[in-house]
Amino acid sequence: MDDREASYGPRMTQTQKALVTGATGTVGRQVVAELLARGHAVRALTRDAARAVLPAGVEVAEGDLTRPDSLASALEGVTGLHLITFGGAAFTPLETGPRILELARSAGVRRITVLHGGGPTPLEDSVRAADGVDWTVLMPVEFMANALEWADGIIASGEVREPFVARLSAMVHEGDIGAVAAVALTEEGHGHQEYVITGPEVLTVGDKVATIAAELGRDIALVELTEEQALAQWRAEYLPEDVIGFLLQAYGNTPEVGRTVSGTVEKVTGRPARTFAQWAAEHADSFKERRS
Ligand SMILES: NC(=O)c1ccc[n+]([C@@H]2O[C@H](COP(=O)([O-])OP(=O)(O)OC[C@H]3O[C@@H](n4cnc5c(N)ncnc54)[C@H](OP(=O)(O)O)[C@@H]3O)[C@@H](O)[C@H]2O)c1
Repeated sequence: MDDREASYGPRMTQTQKALVTGATGTVGRQVVAELLARGHAVRALTRDAARAVLPAGVEVAEGDLTRPDSLASALEGVTGLHLITFGGAAFTPLETGPRILELARSAGVRRITVLHGGGPTPLEDSVRAADGVDWTVLMPVEFMANALEWADGIIASGEVREPFVARLSAMVHEGDIGAVAAVALTEEGHGHQEYVITGPEVLTVGDKVATIAAELGRDIALVELTEEQALAQWRAEYLPEDVIGFLLQAYGNTPEVGRTVSGTVEKVTGRPARTFAQWAAEHADSFKERRS
């Protein structure tokens, strides 16, 4: 085993406590679950505790990242902090990083993970510049959960309508982002690192649709949209223009990093990254007609 391998991998750690922001979201929910699974204590931040659905055993704290002083009591007694870079439904980049970092340091936070927002953000810059904390930037590629956007079309008409169907993606299971975060928040050796987090394989849109069809035991048609048709569809869904621009770039000209397997999940957690077939089996019910 070389030095690099020795610094990774699972090892027994003392129980620690982390504050997870974005805890009701796609990734944060998984950070919470993976910390709990490793026996750590979790405090979950939400803007609305009455609405938040969180697992048993999690301490729920109300706070708003756009008002950093609202986080002061939530930060008391935690050694780890998982951060998102945005506040609000429109993914507005947070400008409150310096104050959040000041509060975190004075509360005794030693390790911070930050979920990269697909480009530079002021909050991530603040984390990278922080003295006296071990920070880890989590840079996942496309989430497997994005396939949930196909559920309505599959249920209603047995079809998926997408542009750029030949595009390649090393898409990652959200649980594996959570697992990498949980390790980085509680174990030594992950400070001052950027981790590109991917799944174990590179798939086309057709591969993904075929995987869901096999899981459901039914045919699903894949209809390729032109760029113009995709633009019209996204605008009809009221996606903001900057998000549409991002999608066109990410789907039409996927950068190499988005279509290359990184191996980070196995190196950091000691377990292989989960496949899209595993994800599809876990989420099969989401693609079936709901009977109430
Ligand atoms: N989709 C992809 O393929 C992909 C790939 C790579 C990176 N990303 C990045 O992943 C991020 C999105 O993560 P996600 O999908 O897990 O998010 P999400 O499911 O949309 O969840 C949003 C979370 O943010 C919290 N939140 C929003 N505003 C807040 C505020 N002002 N104060 C405190 N909490 C606030 C919400 O908490 P409450 O509502 O409970 O308060 C919720 O838990 C983006 O930065 C995106 O760029 C996405």
